[in-house]
Amino acid sequence: MSDYELPPLPYDYDALEPHISEQVLTWHHDTHHQGYVNGWNSAEETLAENREEGDYSSTAAALGNVTHNGSGHILHDLFWQSMSPEGGDEPSGDLADRIEEDFGSYEAWKGEFEAAASAAGGWALLVYDSFGNQLRNVAVAATSSTPSSRSSIGRSPRNATNKPSNCSNRVFTSLFG
Ligand SMILES: [Fe+2]
Repeated sequence: MSDYELPPLPYDYDALEPHISEQVLTWHHDTHHQGYVNGWNSAEETLAENREEGDYSSTAAALGNVTHNGSGHILHDLFWQSMSPEGGDEPSGDLADRIEEDFGSYEAWKGEFEAAASAAGGWALLVYDSFGNQLRNVAVAATSSTPSSRSSIGRSPRNATNKPSNCSNRVFTSLFG
């Protein structure tokens, strides 16, 4: 049976200050992300019990919990890996070229991405669309358990405390959670 675990942050809890405070990063990783890991494990346990007992009355709800908590776990993991104490600034190399090609300019991409993030109420991601062979901004709606705290990464025009601008060039994500 699956037993998902919370991966450690790839940097210290205070490594992203002043953009994300140690307190926010500690809560977000140790409490919020951990909650998704726990929720996923719990839902898998329910599914396994239901299979064993042949009682599927709570299976649909458990499958929904797998989707919610599993995506929460995976997206948080991507979020942590996308940031770096050495990150920030505009992308370069292949990613910069591709953003220019698919969005017209970095500024155009950023404007669209921030619009996606503000509308998402969950997650905004820059993804590669293998069907259309192009980069695409995607807004992912969160479910009712989306928490109220809010942080974002990417090169934000606002550099207020806890509005991190640190980001690697590999991927930009924005998180409302
Ligand atoms: Fe979160």
